[in-house]
Amino acid sequence: ETPQADAIVLFGATGDLASRMLLPSLYFLDADGFLPDGFRVIATARAELSRDAFVEQVLHLMQKRAEGLDDKVWARFAARLDYVAADATTPEGASVLKPLLEAAKAPIFYLALSPSLYGRVCVALAAAGLTSRDSRIVLEKPIGRDLETSKEINVAVGAVFGEDRIFRIDHYLGKETVQNLIALRFANTLFEPLWNNLTIDHVQITVAETEGVGDRWPYYDEYGALRDMLQNHMLQLLCLVAMEPPSDMEPDSVRNEKVKVLRSLRPFTRAEVQAASIRGQYTPGVVGGKTAAGYEQERGQASGTETFVALRADIDNWRWAGVPFFLRTGKRLPERRTQIAIQFKGVPHSIFGGSAKDDLTANRLVIDLQPDEDIELLLMNKAPGITQGGMRLQSLPLSLSLLRAYEGPGARRRIAYERLLLDVIHGNSTLFVRRDEVEEAWRWVDGVAAAWKDAGLTPKPYAAGSWGPSGAFALIERSARAWLD
Ligand code: BG6
Repeated sequence: ETPQADAIVLFGATGDLASRMLLPSLYFLDADGFLPDGFRVIATARAELSRDAFVEQVLHLMQKRAEGLDDKVWARFAARLDYVAADATTPEGASVLKPLLEAAKAPIFYLALSPSLYGRVCVALAAAGLTSRDSRIVLEKPIGRDLETSKEINVAVGAVFGEDRIFRIDHYLGKETVQNLIALRFANTLFEPLWNNLTIDHVQITVAETEGVGDRWPYYDEYGALRDMLQNHMLQLLCLVAMEPPSDMEPDSVRNEKVKVLRSLRPFTRAEVQAASIRGQYTPGVVGGKTAAGYEQERGQASGTETFVALRADIDNWRWAGVPFFLRTGKRLPERRTQIAIQFKGVPHSIFGGSAKDDLTANRLVIDLQPDEDIELLLMNKAPGITQGGMRLQSLPLSLSLLRAYEGPGARRRIAYERLLLDVIHGNSTLFVRRDEVEEAWRWVDGVAAAWKDAGLTPKPYAAGSWGPSGAFALIERSARAWLD
């Protein structure tokens, strides 16, 4: 049993992630009464800042948010905050934290830092005597850049923290609709009997962003869309769609099933990679009515990094044999859309003649994660009215708008990190990524990258504001299917 945490130490506390996600999430958890009494938030970064100046900064960033600030909650939250400047990569640097952690028996160490520092920080924390059996560590993705570097990190962190004390975050697992996928599949009898290659034709997963890379390029250029999005978020979504029913929601029950899916992903050969994958990179264009620079302009020089990737993944097991999973993600696409679509097969035989025959379209289950959270099941129905010599058929959605269903006074959309931070506080790792999961995902992604290299597959240009290079369409059309609009 992992005891409830009593403090969180935020490394990288002045950075983007902490300001946009982590500090606000902690504030909202506090507002909803989820932070334990006496729970402390100890922020640290290299910047020399006084506690007061830091608290002021947090106040500003909370005031700027759309949700509004509650004075009473703020007073309570501010009292939990502390700041200390530290270079946590050395034991001497880390020991600066010691006085602040004197009373903490079960602190959380949250590393919002470059993954290249994870190992060193863990060693420094242990050497400074800050870790104990009940302390735990949270690591942001990417865990490494490939299998080898991810193993190095896992070994270094594992030398200090037991696997049950390591929380590898994939913030997609904190999103409501992603968890709802588990509910949809396993809290209903309706879908599971159909959830296989007898009834499902294919699956599409799209993560489209309108934002460009901007000044994140020093990180991004080393990773690209394959390593930044596909290796983690998209494969997690794929796993939740494809996994066998776990027997319960215990961390290992769920994660065992995800690992089995990752192990069943068919590796790419050089010949296949050309037909079944495409890399793209945005050039100048227009997104949402605004002109946007190309990636190389932002980067300041030529680059072989992809900002778009689409590929066909095949899962070699009984359930999914012959059911392709088409994945695509990119920056500077026309709209922000994260969507999972389960395309069912058509009816085996049409009893409808005339034009109705042509109206027939196959059922589809569409799960929208962003920008809106909703679920639609496309069903055929008879269009109202009378038609000479038959009927007209029409596909209409049975829709479940999660926003509408749950919108009440004061409802707000939670940040994905809120749920995940609460789980870390209580030591529940079901929604975190286990070591073998990260490594299996890298094994497969390394195979994709190696096949790309082998085949000399470089990113094809696509104008900002378009749906990626034309090869992305060719890739899916090759199997007589099409991306959903
Ligand atoms: C991050 C990636 O993990 O996820 C970013 O590093 C990406 O490049 C972001 O923009 C997308 O997250 P979300 O929650 O906005 O879909």
